[in-house]
Amino acid sequence: HSLDKGEYRHFMLKEIYEQPEAITQTLAGTLGDDHVLTALLGPEAETRLADIEHVHIVACGTSFHAGLVARYWIEAQVGITCQVEVASEYRYRTVVVPKNTLLITISQSGETADTLAALRFAKDQGYLATLALCNVAGSSLVREANWRLLTHAGPEIGVASTKAFTTQLVALLWLTTALIQARGGDKQQIITNINALKSLPGMVEQALQLDTRIAELAERFANKHHALFLGRGTHFPIAMEGALKLKEISYIHAEAYAAGELKHGPLALVDENMPVVSVAPSGSLLEKLKSNLEEVRARGGQLITFACERVEHAEEGTAQTITLPWVEDCISPILYTIPLQLLSYHVALVKGTDVDKPRNLAKSVTVE
Ligand code: G6P
Repeated sequence: HSLDKGEYRHFMLKEIYEQPEAITQTLAGTLGDDHVLTALLGPEAETRLADIEHVHIVACGTSFHAGLVARYWIEAQVGITCQVEVASEYRYRTVVVPKNTLLITISQSGETADTLAALRFAKDQGYLATLALCNVAGSSLVREANWRLLTHAGPEIGVASTKAFTTQLVALLWLTTALIQARGGDKQQIITNINALKSLPGMVEQALQLDTRIAELAERFANKHHALFLGRGTHFPIAMEGALKLKEISYIHAEAYAAGELKHGPLALVDENMPVVSVAPSGSLLEKLKSNLEEVRARGGQLITFACERVEHAEEGTAQTITLPWVEDCISPILYTIPLQLLSYHVALVKGTDVDKPRNLAKSVTVE
């Protein structure tokens, strides 16, 4: 039962392990062999998808990070503009809404005060429609939006969001595919996305097998006060989410940078007390980072890299590379989320924090 920890020590761990099943539920009834089934968005949505020329995404916290990944997908695969913003900023500023813009609000709970206020604010802004991407069917957000896309991840109890995030990403890749289809776009891309999504529960299952290896690695963080997370492209928001998870439950100060920004400041902070976690699936990031990180290594800095098993990597000194199976680019950010969730979980265990209820944080922030 979802409201019971069962064999798991914490809800967070249980929810991490539920991800293959949660993703399967998100995708249930949404995919054909070479097309996606868009009726679930509602009758009006189905006919109007083709008219969308711009997308605005508004959310908070982890849900905001899901939106940031979607921007890469929507602009690259659909070829329409996509802007992503935190709800607390969006709701109080003057927003320019071009004709035929879809507003997407993303929220696990559907009750986050700022996100709900953003949706209400958007009502008078001339959007083509508003869409709630949410895990809770009867929530305020879902009730008040024109269209809905439910993640069906099941109840999430741990304050640090895990399965809600990966299922949001799954729904957003599905929506990206729906937009390509509605616009008569690249058929091959549609099929690639569909097959990749179908393979995802199995790949996540494989990534979960890294648990023991990551638990060992977590020991290295026990006496650290800071950590840096690096990524590029769709993996930059994944690095942000990795840093947020570590902050939330282990209370270690963690920051994420787009890897190319390393030399524009954060490199000055790096020494043996600063673990540097890179999400570097393709190896191109690793190549680009190498010269910067020589310096890190020379000073005993710890480099932890999550990379694709097909890419050549060297284990040198204190540098550690953990490999994940090869997957299509489109689902790679979803897969690489898993080891970062496990890392923050195990670091929190080492530090002895209250994993499911970290201090000062709430599962759902229903007041401003
Ligand atoms: C709180 C939670 C986060 C969550 C954020 C947005 O800060 O602790 O885990 O990402 O709210 O919540 P929502 O329900 O709108 O996704």
